[in-house]
Amino acid sequence: MNAESSAPWWRHAVVYQVYPRSFSDANGDGIGDLPGITSRLTHLRDLGVDALWISPFYTSPQHDHGYDVADYRDIDPLFGTLADADELIARSHQLGLRVIVDLVPNHTSDQHDWFQAALAAAPGSPERARYVFRDGRGPNGEEPPNNWSSVFGGPAWERVPDGQWYLHLFDRTQPDLDWRNPEVGDMFEDVLRFWLDRGVDGFRVDVAHGLLKEESLRDQILAEGEEPTSGASAGESMMGGLPRDEPMWDQPEVHDVYRRWRRVLSEYDGDRMLVAEAWTQTAASLARYVRPDEMHQAFNFAWLLAPWSAEAFAGVVTSTLQALDDAAPTWVLSNHDVVRHVTRYGGGPVGLARARAATVTMLALPGSAYLYQGEELGLEEVDVAPEHRQDPAWVRTGRSSRDGCRVPIPWSGDRPPYGFGPGTGQPWLPQPSDWARRTVAAEDGVAGSTLELYREALAARRKLAAAEPDAVELLDLGAEVLAFRRGALTVVLNCGEAPVPMPAGEVVLASGPVADTLPADTAVWLR
Ligand code: GLC
Ligand code: CA
Repeated sequence: MNAESSAPWWRHAVVYQVYPRSFSDANGDGIGDLPGITSRLTHLRDLGVDALWISPFYTSPQHDHGYDVADYRDIDPLFGTLADADELIARSHQLGLRVIVDLVPNHTSDQHDWFQAALAAAPGSPERARYVFRDGRGPNGEEPPNNWSSVFGGPAWERVPDGQWYLHLFDRTQPDLDWRNPEVGDMFEDVLRFWLDRGVDGFRVDVAHGLLKEESLRDQILAEGEEPTSGASAGESMMGGLPRDEPMWDQPEVHDVYRRWRRVLSEYDGDRMLVAEAWTQTAASLARYVRPDEMHQAFNFAWLLAPWSAEAFAGVVTSTLQALDDAAPTWVLSNHDVVRHVTRYGGGPVGLARARAATVTMLALPGSAYLYQGEELGLEEVDVAPEHRQDPAWVRTGRSSRDGCRVPIPWSGDRPPYGFGPGTGQPWLPQPSDWARRTVAAEDGVAGSTLELYREALAARRKLAAAEPDAVELLDLGAEVLAFRRGALTVVLNCGEAPVPMPAGEVVLASGPVADTLPADTAVWLR
């Protein structure tokens, strides 16, 4: 496969994820908003990305920061209005940026009209049939209908006053829809058309592997000592664990949903696209979401889950490209659900060097790459004090919190809110006091800064990688080195502790200082 110029825009796109609460705050209430995003679009253009994906901005009580949608066709007042969304889309298009919005079809908010109607209606009613209501087990139905756990911890079932239970694979305020009910599919087709008509270029599909559950709703079989499934940890078996029994995830019937959506999108012009958030167990099961009549892309979480190891990275490249066949690969290192990759790779100067090297490597791979806001500044995970944490996963169990990767972006200045919004106070999650050197303004134009590296790498990708063939040939430069050739490009990533000899060629991009040898924790592109 060649990167022929007729390829749809998303095939080789770099997509930048905006987490609206934390990107830019126009009205000064400490929470990011749509006008804030619009005012900062030139940052994305100057960075050199092709598109932005915006996490949910719909009407929502914000129990999961917008992944609990109460109205799919309106904007939460916290973020603005539909007119603000139209403006954001129009301005993005003027700047040559595509816009991907986030679609949350697995569950609604408990404040959605449908769920409120379901609570008011009787067991067995059509209103309840849009969700997964069941009677409990035990003599008085006081036991949940099965043993499933919520991804956020605790049981996946909540009891309502009349004694029935409803399923929520996430928070109690996020009841799962019943996708076996045709009303649900019809509603989402309308939602897709609503946003397609407004001009969006694509949808990121939340929990794409979750919509259909095994019809019997049988117990999950857990091996001795095995933790109940969590959508995200399911991906861990992609890294070589044993297959897990998961009657709540990745059921064959889910693919009919995406075939229907593909047909809807193809009625529109302009190569509209779907990208799946699907934490499946293997590269092969992920590939099923991107068959020619289904979605266009799926996040490749195996790349993000790989430890700092040349062997692990090589394994992911090989298994991804093998499983995908002709479908477009994707690569991602960070998002709003995981610890930032600088920190995952050890934090501090070493973590940063590795993060830069992994990014430079990723940007040479065929297909498209997804970046998460703030990684272009080299931001680390923030240790948010427990009293400030807001993630429902933390609130439910006190075990883990995703707040540390969601701290508002520092734009300028030497103290909070670092230009995130007007005013002087801390935003909704407090920013660290040592971010002055990590702001966009502080890194802008500074040779060697992470921001300048990203700009350089994205420009190099456009100029040198985009036209190269998709085929990747792995090279053997030793156990600690990931090396591959793609057309005229040779890419070398040194995951070891000692410098390694550099193959012949001219260095056209480097993640850090290089000499005749390639230092540890560094990657280069050679021609
Ligand atoms: C996805 C989102 C995550 C959210 C969950 C429930 O995994 O990325 O942030 O909490 O779905 O919607
Ligand atoms: Ca605001």
